[in-house]
Amino acid sequence: MIGKICGTGSYVPVEYMDNHELSRTVETSDEWIRERTGIVKRHIAKEDTTVSMAVKAAKQALTDSELCEEEIDLLIVSTISSNVILPCTACEVQKEIHAINATCFDLNAACTGFLFAYNTAQAYIAAGMCKNVLLIGAECLSTLIDWKDRTTCILFGDGAGAVVLRAEKGNLYRTVSCSDGRKGTALTCDTGDYIKMNGQEVFKFAVRQVPEAIAGVLKENNLKEEDIAHFILHQANRRIVEAVARRMNVELDKFPMNLQEYGNTSSASIPLLLDEMNRQGKLKRGQKLILAGFGAGLSWGASVLEW
Ligand code: COA
Repeated sequence: MIGKICGTGSYVPVEYMDNHELSRTVETSDEWIRERTGIVKRHIAKEDTTVSMAVKAAKQALTDSELCEEEIDLLIVSTISSNVILPCTACEVQKEIHAINATCFDLNAACTGFLFAYNTAQAYIAAGMCKNVLLIGAECLSTLIDWKDRTTCILFGDGAGAVVLRAEKGNLYRTVSCSDGRKGTALTCDTGDYIKMNGQEVFKFAVRQVPEAIAGVLKENNLKEEDIAHFILHQANRRIVEAVARRMNVELDKFPMNLQEYGNTSSASIPLLLDEMNRQGKLKRGQKLILAGFGAGLSWGASVLEW
């Protein structure tokens, strides 16, 4: 059995901060941020929390899937910014949407989190442990940002994306998933502190490892670049996406981007993009997509998704 996406949803707070507004609080400029990152604005939660954003994205995904909440038997939330340590965000979402039959847990693998959660859901389905999975990436990163640190505050934003996976007959694709804790100091957030990052190290890591992971997953599944309709990369930075496309020798228009609108929303970025593309009718049944994530840990990987 394989999990097929039968519903998507997303939510971002209405409030946002554009580059011009940011440049009034730290020494930066719209031009610098656009040129180095491609980001134009980021949505920032005022009233919303990680749980409330996750719930709104989840409800949309459930409506789109035409499944009812009681049919969900696994609910995973990927997040690094839960409201509280206990109970986990997934249980809080369960309570709000009445998914009473779901096993619920959170997964923390930073910006690779949604990809690893997707793989976990597929493994549960393949093992016959569940049939219908609600998978959410939700982040309130504005609470983990030092708004006086121009090297990080320009990059991140808040939001949530969700997908519903339903078990169908089919073969499981092989995945590439990697972690290297030895390089963890490149991107950290100590308890009670803010996100700190060695931007250049993370940049170099991403442009080296992501093309390698994608090449690996294509080879493992006997696929070629031309078999893939879209490469859905974690939305961290336009220059990273461009460098990956260049290294792979694949045209950039196969790499959809919405980071200009949301910044880097960590776990939420891949499902946010999937939902946007789904609503715009850009995804067709049977198409093969590659999902690729990378981030703190360090961790990274790539998986095939058949739409
Ligand atoms: N505005 C204006 N200047 C800034 C700035 C900002 N927001 N942030 C840093 N600078 C300055 C630096 O202080 C430095 O000045 P100096 O030359 O006088 O010392 C200069 O710009 C260059 O800094 P550098 O860090 O070399 O810039 P960069 O080209 O590496 O770009 C990033 C910085 C963060 C945009 C880039 O490294 C990056 O995108 N890294 C990956 C980050 C990422 O995506 N992380 C999440 C992965 S999940």
